[in-house]
Amino acid sequence: MAAVTLSLVGTGGQSPPCHLDWPLHRLRAGTTVVVEVTSAQPLGTLLLVRLWKEPLVSLVPDRWFCARVTVTGPLGDGDDDGDGDDDGDGDGGDDGDVPRATFPCYRWLESGCLELREGTARTPREATWEPQLLQQRQEERREREEAFQWEPYAPGWPWRLRALPPALCPWPPPPPPPSAASPASPASPSPPRQLSPSLAYPLGHRANIAARTAAAQIRVRLRGLRCGGSWRSFEDIREALEGPGTPISEYVLRHWQDDAFFGAQYLSGVNPVLLRRCSRLPPNFPVTPPMVAPSLGPATCLRREMEGGRIFLADYALLDGLPTGRVGGEPQFLAAPLCLLWISPGQQLLPIAIQLSQRPGPESPIFLPGDGPWGWALAKLWVRGAHFTLHEAVTHLLHTHFLGETFALATHRLPACHPIHQLLLPHCRFTFHINILAREALLSPGAFIDQATAVGREGTLELVARGTAALTYRELCVPDDLEHRGVTDIPNYHYRDDALEIWGAIESLVEGIVALYYPEDSDVAEDYELQDWVGEIFTYAVLGNEKTGFPSKLCSRPELVKFVTMIIFCCSARHAAVNSGQYDYAAWMPNTPGTLGRPPPRRKEEATAELLLRTLPSPDATGALLALLSVVSYEGGEPRPLGSRSEELFSGAAPRRLLASFRRRLAAISHRIRQRNEGLALPYPYLDPACVQESVAI
Ligand code: FE2
Repeated sequence: MAAVTLSLVGTGGQSPPCHLDWPLHRLRAGTTVVVEVTSAQPLGTLLLVRLWKEPLVSLVPDRWFCARVTVTGPLGDGDDDGDGDDDGDGDGGDDGDVPRATFPCYRWLESGCLELREGTARTPREATWEPQLLQQRQEERREREEAFQWEPYAPGWPWRLRALPPALCPWPPPPPPPSAASPASPASPSPPRQLSPSLAYPLGHRANIAARTAAAQIRVRLRGLRCGGSWRSFEDIREALEGPGTPISEYVLRHWQDDAFFGAQYLSGVNPVLLRRCSRLPPNFPVTPPMVAPSLGPATCLRREMEGGRIFLADYALLDGLPTGRVGGEPQFLAAPLCLLWISPGQQLLPIAIQLSQRPGPESPIFLPGDGPWGWALAKLWVRGAHFTLHEAVTHLLHTHFLGETFALATHRLPACHPIHQLLLPHCRFTFHINILAREALLSPGAFIDQATAVGREGTLELVARGTAALTYRELCVPDDLEHRGVTDIPNYHYRDDALEIWGAIESLVEGIVALYYPEDSDVAEDYELQDWVGEIFTYAVLGNEKTGFPSKLCSRPELVKFVTMIIFCCSARHAAVNSGQYDYAAWMPNTPGTLGRPPPRRKEEATAELLLRTLPSPDATGALLALLSVVSYEGGEPRPLGSRSEELFSGAAPRRLLASFRRRLAAISHRIRQRNEGLALPYPYLDPACVQESVAI
C-alpha cells in the first residue's frame, strides 16, 4: 500500500520519478512490476537505480522487500559494465539486441531511499572511474557499518553481531552486555537493532523448528525420560533409548563397547579432527612398553610401532581444571584424559591405554584393555564424556558457529558489490539467527547447557575462551591440519578423504573468482576494503592474537585464496562434519554422555557395573540432550546444499562458468562418497556434498 517511486541515475542526469505503487500497480509478494521510464534528456551511462518508499499512513509500518530491478533499454555508449559484453547483464551478451542490466537489492525497504548499483562485482579500485559510484559505495559502507556492529559476548570469546533477537523470538531478551572483553568497545554505539527479517529464519522455517522441538520433547517424555529419578539397570536404559533410531544410531547401540568402534569414532565420528600421531609420549602420560605389550602382541613393541607411525594420541588437556556445574542439584564431573591408540595389522584403530587426568600418579592410574570389563568400560566412558564436551564447545560451537558469525559480520560490512561479499554471502545465511538462538536458548543461566552438560554455562564460557586462545589458522585449513596432525596416511579415515576433495573443489572456485578480480598480487594488497575485512576478522575472531597464525592483512592472491577457502569450508563442510552426526552418535547415551555424575575412579578396583550405572547422566539430563540433538542435527525448512547458491548474486559469464564447474565437481564427489558408503558397515555420509549445507544455519 506504500508509495514507491523509482528513478534511473546516469552520467547525464536523473530521470523523473516513476510511480510503482497502487492504484497503478499492486506490490504483492512475488509480483513483477513493469514500468516504462522516460526522460526528456539522455541519461548517459546508467549508474544507479534509486528507490524511494514512503508509508501511505505514517503510523502503519509497511515493509517492502525488493529482490531486484532489471533495466532494459539504452545504456549509454558501448560496454560500460566492464564484463566484456555490451548488454550490461554480464552474461556474455546472448540476449539478442536488447541491452539489459540487473540491479540486485535483496533488502527490506522501510521508508526512505535505497540506491542500487549494477550487480557486477567490482573492487574499490575499479569503482573509482565514476565519482557518483564511488560516493554511493562509501555511503553504503557507512550504512552497513552502522547496521552491522561488533559487540563482545564474554571475555576471551569471538565478538558477535550487536542485535536484538528477531521479531517473534520465543526466547526472552538477552542478558545485559558483559563488562570485560579484549578489543576496545565502540565509544558510543547506537542502540542495537532487531535482526533484519532478511537475515532471520523465515516464518515457515521457525515453525518447522518449533514443531520438531515440541515433537522431540514429547518423544523423550514418552520414553520415560525427563521425569526425574535415576537408572536402575542397563535394561532400564535400553528400554528408554532403544529404537526407533537412525541406521547409524542402531550401529552405535550394537557396537558401543567395541574397541574398534571406539577408535573409529576418531576418524568418522562427530569430532574427526582431534587425533594426532604420537612419535613420543608426553611426559605426563607415562605408559610403559610392558603395559601395552598384551595389546600389541609378541611380534612388536611400543617403540617399533611409534617409529612405524602407528601410534596416535587423543589429548583432552584443554578441559583440565574447568569448573563443572550441577544437574538436578547434584554436582557433575569431567575428566581431562589422555588416550593412546594403535593401528593394528587388521587396519583397526584401537585404544590401548587411557589416563583420566593430566597429572599422573597413584590416584590417576593408566587403564588398559586387560583391566577387566568394568575398569576399561569406565575409562572409555570418561573419554567419551570429555569428547562430547570438547566437541560441542570448541570443535562445533567455536570453530564453526562463532567463527562463522565473525566471518559473516565482517562480510556484511563490505559493500554489496565487493567480489568477496558476493562470493561469501550464501555462506552467511541464517548464521546470526542460529547463534542468537544458541546464546539465548542454550547458554543463558539455567538453560539447556546448565540442565544437561557437565560444564554448564560457567564452564562453557571458560572453555570457549580457552579454545579461542588455543586456536590456530593451520587447524582450520584442511591440508595443513592433516599434515600437522600426522594423519595423512591413516587407513579408513573417511573425513580426511572427503574433506580434502571438498577443500580442493572450493579452492578451485575461489582461485577462479580471485583471478577475475585481482589480476596481480598488488591488486589484493591495495584493496583497502579487503584489508579492512581481514583486519576485522583478525581483531574480532581471534582477538588480535598473532600466535593463532591468522593473517591480519593479505598481500597476495594465494593468501587470499587460502583465507576465503578456509571460510567457505568452515561454514559449510566443517560444520556438516561436526554437526550432522550429533544425534546418530549420541542417541545411545552411554556412547556420548553429556555429563557424568560421579568422580573419575582413582583406583582400578573401584570400577564396577554399579559405579558405571551411577556415573551415567540422569534420565532428565539424557532427555534434555537428546531432544536438542534430534533437532539440531538436521537442517530444517529449506535446505541449501553447497553449490546451490543463486546465480543472480554473482552476475557475469565467467563466474557462472566457474560455478557450473564447481557443481560438476561436487556431484562427482557425491557420487564417489555414496558408492563408498554402500560397501561400509558404518557409512560416513556427513561430507556428501548433497547433504552439506552452504552455511552454519542450524
Ligand atoms: Fe551447528
